Parts: sequence; structure tokens; C-alpha cells
Amino acid sequence: MKISNVEFVISAVRPNQYPDDALPEFALAGRSNVGKSSLINRMINRKGLARTSSQPGKTQQLNYYRVNDRVYLVDFPGYGYAKVSKVQRQQFGEMIETYLSEREPLKMVLHIIDIRHAPSKDDVLMYDWLKHYGIPVCVVTTKADKIPKSQWPKHVKIVKEALGFRPTDRHVLFSSETGLGRDELWAVMEGMIAE
Ligand code: GTP
Ligand code: MG
Repeated sequence: MKISNVEFVISAVRPNQYPDDALPEFALAGRSNVGKSSLINRMINRKGLARTSSQPGKTQQLNYYRVNDRVYLVDFPGYGYAKVSKVQRQQFGEMIETYLSEREPLKMVLHIIDIRHAPSKDDVLMYDWLKHYGIPVCVVTTKADKIPKSQWPKHVKIVKEALGFRPTDRHVLFSSETGLGRDELWAVMEGMIAE
């Protein structure tokens, strides 16, 4: 997709702060530090718009980015980061749960998984939860540049098996570093918008 304009709209913590223009939304879920914000930057070709960090826990609200006045990418706080307080973790959990269970314009969750590692317990819980609510998922195995191409199929298999990946869901192999998978992921999203 050709990106003609991107706007950071809001860091929302409550539903009444979510945009009300009913454009389709794609939310990014994944462990802290897995590369959600980097993936957004790659998708929109703007290096520093979504804040990234080598420190986990950087993204703490639902950050809305409007692309081409047509679609929102919603950056979530990462889960599974030990150093946030219990109260904070519970607040994140509630915010995400409310969003995922009630958000009408949500078309699909991009579930971001590090291709190098078997999914964590939290990854499996998140995927189960998305399936419980009937939310379409695209599993995005990212950081593919970090392992040799010859090992991609083996790692993808491990990820899919551990998650209990449903054949009705989608999968895209990705690297924010090289841009691998960018066009394919836009095509997946375009397909969901057109449905
Ligand atoms: P939180 O906001 O804390 O949940 O993290 P996040 O999931 O948004 O991760 P972020 O995009 O900030 O990336 C974390 C680190 O991984 C940064 O140092 C990135 O540069 C690095 N990174 C992200 N994606 C890739 C990738 O595809 N390849 C490589 N080599 N590094 C990546
Ligand atoms: Mg982030």
C-alpha cells in the first residue's frame, strides 16, 4: 500500500477516548519488546513515529495511528513484562480486554510473535482468548532477519503448533529490519477491510 499520510491520533486509556469515525481498526498484540511498534513504523514507512525501545514496557496506552484516512493501526502495551506493578498490569489487562471484547470497528488482531522463540504461556493465553471471542487473527512471526532463512520453516512450525494455530487464521513472516512481509501484511489487511 502506498502511504500518503499517517497521523498519530491519540494515546487512549478509556473507551470514550477511542476515535468515533468508525474506520476499520487493526490492533497489535504481543509480548513486551517483541517488536510491535517497530512493525507499525515499517508498515507506514516512518522510522520514529511509533516509539520503540530496547527497554520493554515503552508503550503503555492504546496508541492510535490513522493511515491514509482509511484505517487505524492500534499499538498495544506489551504483555508479560515482569517489572510493571501488579496494579498497572491489571489495568493494562482490563483495558485490553474491554477493547478486544467490545470494539466494533476492530477487524483483526495482528498477533506478533518472535520467530526465534517458542511462544510463551502468555502468547498461548492471548491467542486462546482471541479465539474465544471469535476475533480474526493474523499471526506475525517477526524478527525473521535474526535467524537464517533456512530455519524459518522449522521455527514457524514450532510457533504454529504451540499456539494451536487455526487454519482459518492468517500467518505472515515479517522483519521490521528488512521489510520482509510488509506488502503481504497490507494485503491481508486490505482483504479484511474489503470483507
Ligand atoms: P513494548 O512497547 O515494550 O511492548 O515493545 P514493542 O513490542 O513495541 O517493541 P519495539 O518495537 O519497541 O522493539 C523492541 C526492540 O526490538 C527494539 O530494539 C527494536 O529495534 C527491535 N526489533 C523490533 N523488530 C525487529 C526486527 O524485525 N528485527 C530486528 N533485528 N530487531 C527488531
Ligand atoms: Mg511498543
